[in-house]
Amino acid sequence: MATIIESSRGTWNSKLGFILAAAGSAVGLGNIWGFPTQVADNGGAAFILIYLICCLIIGFPVMIAELTIGRRTQKNPVGAFKALSNGNKFVPLIGYWGVICGVMILSFYVVISGWTLAFVFEELFYFFSYDTAAIYVGDLGNGFKNAIFTLFFMVLTILVVTGGVSKGIERVTKLLMPVLIGILLILIAYIFTLEGAFDGMIMYFNPDFSTINGTLILSALGQAFFSLSLGMGALITYGSYLNKKQNIVESAAYVTIFDIGIAVIAGLLVIPAMFVAQAGGVEIFDPVTGALFSSTTLVFDVLPEMFHNVGGVIGLLLGVTFFILLGLAALTSSISLLEVPVSYVIDEHNIKRKKAAWMVGSIVGVIGVVLSIETVLIDYFVNIFNEVGLPLGGLMICLFLGYFWKSENALLEMEDGNKGISSSKFSTIWIIFIKFISPILIALVLISTIWRLLS
Ligand code: PHE
Repeated sequence: MATIIESSRGTWNSKLGFILAAAGSAVGLGNIWGFPTQVADNGGAAFILIYLICCLIIGFPVMIAELTIGRRTQKNPVGAFKALSNGNKFVPLIGYWGVICGVMILSFYVVISGWTLAFVFEELFYFFSYDTAAIYVGDLGNGFKNAIFTLFFMVLTILVVTGGVSKGIERVTKLLMPVLIGILLILIAYIFTLEGAFDGMIMYFNPDFSTINGTLILSALGQAFFSLSLGMGALITYGSYLNKKQNIVESAAYVTIFDIGIAVIAGLLVIPAMFVAQAGGVEIFDPVTGALFSSTTLVFDVLPEMFHNVGGVIGLLLGVTFFILLGLAALTSSISLLEVPVSYVIDEHNIKRKKAAWMVGSIVGVIGVVLSIETVLIDYFVNIFNEVGLPLGGLMICLFLGYFWKSENALLEMEDGNKGISSSKFSTIWIIFIKFISPILIALVLISTIWRLLS
């Protein structure tokens, strides 16, 4: 039997509360902004296929691993790896890498989330014909305006995190997640009444396999890690607040399916919306190369155009609800990004939650302000910390669990809440994935990327 480590840290109030909080972490800009853009950029359904494979054979096993490490140790990622390190100096580095990725990813995440909030105002100003104001808030290159919205979003994130686990994070996500799904479905139902939407559907579900290459696979892998919140210990941290009655495998399955589902549904909105905008005269693809114009800003370039074309009160309602929705989804993710470094500071440096959240939040805020002024830097952050950093973290987690801590010990922990798992067929398959298939695949993708970058 795995021994229960007593601790006075917070715990999730209910099974549903945890699943929604973890799903809230997973569902965010990655699903609604990242996934549809990547699909459009990478040949439609061919990308979806590779993405699904990455989520199921790499993401899902790694998610189980993270939750198990978290619940076993009941600690932040650094503390967790220290606790299981047997004095080895290198093992805690995996946790430190997670904390660094958390800070860096959150720094650009808040800038994009800030854009989301700014566009709520853009839609309102446009409707009331305050054109100058609408252009001002909708200008993605305006550093001063970006910085204000970035800081505003950062403060929101800090306030939720200071509320703690069950009163802050759990309460907010439990309320927001169902609202988010409802709004998405309403928007999809509406979009299909507009001209051009079905062309989007065709691109979405019609695979062009000739587009599959190393770059696409790396993007799909990075996207899977980012979207499932893996590789940096966010789910180690959320797992550390899990009680011993919860079935880890089942929870991970719910979160994975939920996250994939929301991404696919978001694609059903954004891709047809791109084609509706195109039918309305907005250029989306380069007519010569066929490549997508401006991936990073696609959602912000194209969707407002579409909402404007719809026009009137309906256009306003669609626009405002969409950007509020995106902001809410981003908030339930940004709190999990902040929770990683904050829980590290609380546990390892004995600092109170409120102070820790403001301290770390201020550091992120400063980097965020720099990125909101120099937005070209965001792409570098995405490449380093998201596309390479998260899979690298995932690789280290697999190797740590499979060869250092040993999968038998992880299975013992998983027995709590899931009796008989260690002797089940599922556990044999999971071990094969964690020890061999996932690390080999991640390593291959990373090596080929580094090779490509160097040559
Ligand atoms: N999964 C979140 C999203 O899709 C982003 C995230 C990444 C959150 C890593 C936590 C950790 O937007």
